[in-house]
Amino acid sequence: HVLEEAYSYEVCKEIADYLSERTAIRPKIGIICGSGLGSLADELTNTDIFEYENIPNFPVSTVEGHVGRMVFGYLGDVPVMAMQGRFHYYEGYGLAKCSMPVRVMKLVGCTHLIATNAAGGLNHKFKVGDIMVVRDHVNMMGFAGNSPLQGPNDPRFGPRFPPMTRAYDAHYIKTAKKIAKEMKIGSDVHEGVYTCLGGPNYETVAELRMLKTLGIDAVGMSTVHEVVTARHCDLKVFAFSLITNKCSLDYDSSDDDANHEEVVTVGKNRQHICAQFTRRIVQVISDE
Ligand code: 6GU
Repeated sequence: HVLEEAYSYEVCKEIADYLSERTAIRPKIGIICGSGLGSLADELTNTDIFEYENIPNFPVSTVEGHVGRMVFGYLGDVPVMAMQGRFHYYEGYGLAKCSMPVRVMKLVGCTHLIATNAAGGLNHKFKVGDIMVVRDHVNMMGFAGNSPLQGPNDPRFGPRFPPMTRAYDAHYIKTAKKIAKEMKIGSDVHEGVYTCLGGPNYETVAELRMLKTLGIDAVGMSTVHEVVTARHCDLKVFAFSLITNKCSLDYDSSDDDANHEEVVTVGKNRQHICAQFTRRIVQVISDE
């Protein structure tokens, strides 16, 4: 199945060229909008919009709360391309397929990836609605022998054995914390370790306790394989999680069970802050 899932360099290039031929916008920054955070793409100006179903060889995202389109446009005065709706492993796509758009971003000319997601908070300091800037990840699916880089390696993307130390650019983490202070949301913005599980079910209490013991601060169902793919082709990465629920770490916790409606609602309520935060990071990246 691994080989069937793989998108060749040529197919990724074809998709990138399809997009580039139909827009004059030349983004250096690719953005992936997480659950409920898609409004970021709605804030872009002078847009050229591509529905996934109209992009040749593109999968179609099937999750409620996610639309499926690639939006080229300007965030402030910075050209970006934003995925409004991503592909998840639980939809039945392989990790290479889920992450393929990152390679398309690279071939369109991006040098940076900004990935956002909704996540459950394990760190007791996190409140619902807070932002966690991703300092690092634990690739649980990688531990289980699954990677978007499996199969033959095409060196035009990157090396067979790419390093993953320094996956999340320290400079942008620092910048993000400075921006949070300027926005007066310093106490709502944290730094931490993210992990992705396959989903679509949320975790048991025992699983959440295990993740916490491993040093994980937030858990979701995306991003890690996209970041692995981005680092493989040498994109600089910045990522943050919107904490949409607190994970119950005991059996008689009064916390509500995690549920998709809550995740999407918190996303909607906080999307303006997240968009502002992203806009300012994009500005810093483009000024450098
Ligand atoms: Cl609690 N778990 C996972 N895997 N993903 C989530 C979540 C929890 N909350 C939002 N996304």
